[in-house]
Amino acid sequence: MTEQEEQKVELEDLQGVGAKTAEKLRDAGYDDLMSIATMSSGDLGELADLGEKKSQKIITAARKELDLGFETGKDKYDSRQEMQKISTSAENLDEILGGGVETQAITEFYGEYGSAKTQLSHQLSVNVQRSEDEGGLGRGVVFIDTEDTFTPIRIEQMAEEAGLDVEETLNNIHVARAYNSDHQMLLADEAQDICQKEDIGLIVVDSLTAQFRADYVGRGELAPRQQKLNRHMNTLLRLANSHNAAVVVTNQVMSNPDQMFGDPTKAIGGHIVAHNSAVRLYLRKGKKDKRVARLVDSPYMPEGEAVFRITDGGIVDAS
Ligand code: GTP
Ligand code: MG
Repeated sequence: MTEQEEQKVELEDLQGVGAKTAEKLRDAGYDDLMSIATMSSGDLGELADLGEKKSQKIITAARKELDLGFETGKDKYDSRQEMQKISTSAENLDEILGGGVETQAITEFYGEYGSAKTQLSHQLSVNVQRSEDEGGLGRGVVFIDTEDTFTPIRIEQMAEEAGLDVEETLNNIHVARAYNSDHQMLLADEAQDICQKEDIGLIVVDSLTAQFRADYVGRGELAPRQQKLNRHMNTLLRLANSHNAAVVVTNQVMSNPDQMFGDPTKAIGGHIVAHNSAVRLYLRKGKKDKRVARLVDSPYMPEGEAVFRITDGGIVDAS
């Protein structure tokens, strides 16, 4: 089901849920279908004063509405068939990615400062707007900017290089600056609205982890931070799947030498971010404008390396 349909369904729309039952459930904090769908019939019965059978019926209705449960291999196959790729502008980088950055998945770029995470985010924001023949999807962008590094002038340069109309290209990128981690999560929720109104093929979060890192500093805060990050990434993945869009997130590595257990090749956010990212690309600096990308995780591509360059016109092959 699409997000749009999901939004329209209220508790009262479920068979067996009247105004009274809906009120009781809402008072207890169960205000959306997912919370009902994942309840036990015993708990629901107790909360809403309903018998076992009636409770189970409501839960089943919520699950049906949300389309939870199993799907066939053919369903899976069909949705994979719709998967598309966005070119990075560097042929050898596209090659190790199996054609480019894919829709219906989260792709993580991680690496130290200056390794091209933001440059690649800009390049993809331009390229997704190009025609399918030119490695794009002809679709727009949602760009969540957490470090204030979104640069319209870079978009202008890259759009010109790609032969796109500059103003139109800029207009097709919906940018929001996130001021803290909660705000960032809110923006991801709001991105759902944009995706319903506009044809969005790429959602960028640059950087995914910086605000979380700043907001949850102590050791004791690691667990809540990871939980929030997990929820945030779930929101992003849902967007990717329901709109056949690509999600690109960037992540710094722990290069700070005074950080305990710091490993210069380990991404921040640990296994939560790694686990939620289907494709992971490790970026490092080479000589001058050269950058090296290594595909670390991919469901079906082998590990591989590609060298590219950052130029005034954008990302290009190194060779
Ligand atoms: P952090 O966000 O600090 O972790 O780094 P990052 O990985 O996002 O680095 P970013 O993508 O910002 O890459 C910065 C590199 O791109 C620098 O080495 C810049 O020299 C290069 N760069 C940025 N703008 C331009 C430009 O207009 N022309 C050229 N030729 N290079 C640029
Ligand atoms: Mg950056």
